[in-house]
Amino acid sequence: MTGALYAVSDLHVSYAQNRAVVDGLRPESADDWLIVAGDVGEVFADVERTLRLLRDRFARVVWVPGNHELWTHPTDPVTLRGVARYEALVAMCRELGVDTPEDDYPVWHGAGGPVTVAPLFLLYDYSFRAPGTTTKEESLRAAYASGVVCTDEMLLHPDPYPDRESWCRARLAATARRLDATDPALPTVLVNHWPLVRQPTEVLWYPEFAQWCGTDRTADWHVRHRAAVAVYGHLHIPRTTHYDGVRFEEVSLGYPREWGRRGGDPRPMRRILGDAG
Ligand SMILES: [Fe+2]
Ligand SMILES: [Fe+2]
Repeated sequence: MTGALYAVSDLHVSYAQNRAVVDGLRPESADDWLIVAGDVGEVFADVERTLRLLRDRFARVVWVPGNHELWTHPTDPVTLRGVARYEALVAMCRELGVDTPEDDYPVWHGAGGPVTVAPLFLLYDYSFRAPGTTTKEESLRAAYASGVVCTDEMLLHPDPYPDRESWCRARLAATARRLDATDPALPTVLVNHWPLVRQPTEVLWYPEFAQWCGTDRTADWHVRHRAAVAVYGHLHIPRTTHYDGVRFEEVSLGYPREWGRRGGDPRPMRRILGDAG
């Protein structure tokens, strides 16, 4: 098999400029796969339209939810909340033939493979606390005091869980079982909207925002689950870093004001494995 495994995230297609960038996302070979690591958009039909378009182009599309897909946005006719909303997104992806965290993990057999590509949905639990705080309550209070509060607090409902950290805990337990059952002979590509380790959040302009960016419970998952590469987005700080010798790729496009600052036409698709076309 030829081709490459690409990844992108944070397409935020509610912005016309970003929809134009998505129009330009094309495979370089007929065998190319595309990982879409969350934050396609917040309106259900926008997410569906975008994933359908990408699925029509790429040999395989692997999606994980970001926080924006999980919002119940006041402008969205789809009013589902929490787990019911996630399950509706999964059902929609299955209709399109897009892989989700609920499907068998596909194996990439192209160059750099074979590797198990594991789309994960892990959420966050406020353990990346704001500086100088030791509890979730203190950390949130610091965020409100500084005016840096993630919109998730208003729009990402945890139903039927009592709170987002409970949902996170359930996702962690179920996902660890899935990963433990993967072929131990194969390395993995771990895909999660939020970074598996805290270090990438250390460059955030507003450190209070880190509490919405992951969980310290996955701090060793890239080692424990044999990651060749860990793919994430959410921070809107695209870059490559290494932790414990494992390559981490932040693959976000981000908002027009962010990519516009970097100048030039954004080329957000990053090659994770395989040969350039
Ligand atoms: Fe985003
Ligand atoms: Fe996000």
